[in-house]
Amino acid sequence: MTQFCDSHVLITGAAHGLGRLMAIDAVGRKARVTLLDRDAEGLERACVELRQLGGDAQSFVVDLADRAALQAVCSRVQATRGEVDILVNNAGIVSGKTLLECSDEAIERTFQVNTLAHFWTVRAFLPGMLARGTGHIVTLASVAGLAGTSRLSDYCASKFAAVGFDESLRVELKRLGSPVRTTVVCPFFIDTGMFDGASTRFPWLLPILQPDYVVRRIMKAVEGNRSRLVLPRFILALPVARALPPWLFDVVLSVLGVNRSMDHFRGRH
Ligand SMILES: NC(=O)c1ccc[n+]([C@@H]2O[C@H](COP(=O)([O-])OP(=O)(O)OC[C@H]3O[C@@H](n4cnc5c(N)ncnc54)[C@H](O)[C@@H]3O)[C@@H](O)[C@H]2O)c1
Repeated sequence: MTQFCDSHVLITGAAHGLGRLMAIDAVGRKARVTLLDRDAEGLERACVELRQLGGDAQSFVVDLADRAALQAVCSRVQATRGEVDILVNNAGIVSGKTLLECSDEAIERTFQVNTLAHFWTVRAFLPGMLARGTGHIVTLASVAGLAGTSRLSDYCASKFAAVGFDESLRVELKRLGSPVRTTVVCPFFIDTGMFDGASTRFPWLLPILQPDYVVRRIMKAVEGNRSRLVLPRFILALPVARALPPWLFDVVLSVLGVNRSMDHFRGRH
C-alpha cells in the first residue's frame, strides 16, 4: 500500500484539471502537497484553495519545457519542502493538428512537456526515494499512448514514449530490488477542457470521462500499488485488437469512430 497520509506529494500541471483535483484529494488524505505549473495565477488560486481546506500546500511556477528551470525548481523543492514521496507527472499539452499543420516548435514542446519533463523530475527525486526505500512515481499517459489516432501524431508519440518510460522504469526498479512503485494511467477523453470539441461515436462503450471519477480511480490505483490503470474498461480489449493484421486493426478503430474523434477539436482556449 502507498500511504498519502503524511506523505509529500508533488504534482506537475496542478493549476487546472486533474492535477488540481488530485491535489485537493491528496490534501483531504492529509498529504503535504507541492504544485508545479507554468500558469502563475491558476497555481496561486489552487494553492489558496488547498490552504483554505486546511492543507499544507506550496507552489512553484515553472515551464516544464525548460529543462534547466525545471531542474532548478526540483532542487528548490528538495531544499524547502524536503524529499518527495509521491511524484505525479501529470502536466500535458495537445496541439490537435495534423502532422503537416503542426509547427516544429509545437512538436518539440509536446515532447518536452509530455515526455522529457518526466525524465528530469524522476531523475531529481528517485535518488531520494531509493535511499529511503520508499516512493511512488505516477505517469499520466493516455489511451493515446496505446493506439495512434489522426490529428494526434505528436501527442500519441509523446504518450507512447511516456508509457515506455514508465514500463522501463518499473522493470529497472524491480531488477534493483527496490520497493519504489510506479503507476501509469491511460484514460480516454476526460471533460477537463483540454480536449474540448473531441467526440466519441459510442459513448456507452467509450464515454467522455468525468474528472472526479478519474481522480478517484487514480488515487485508489496509487494507494493499491497498481502498476497500470486503463479507463474505461473497454480499452482493455485493445491488446486483442493489436493481434489483428494492421489493416483490420485500422478498420476496427475506424468503425469505433476513433479516427474522427478529433475532427471538431477546439482544445483549451
Ligand atoms: N483531458 C483529457 O481528455 C485527457 C485524456 C487522457 C490523458 N490526459 C492527460 O492527463 C493529464 C492532465 O490532463 P488535464 O485534462 O487535467 O489537462 P489540463 O489542460 O486541464 O491541465 C494541464 C495542466 O498542465 C499545465 N501545463 C501545461 N504545460 C505546462 C508547462 N509547459 N509547464 C508547466 N505546466 C504546464 C497547465 O497549465 C494545466 O494546469 C495530461 O497529461 C493529459 O495529457 C488527459
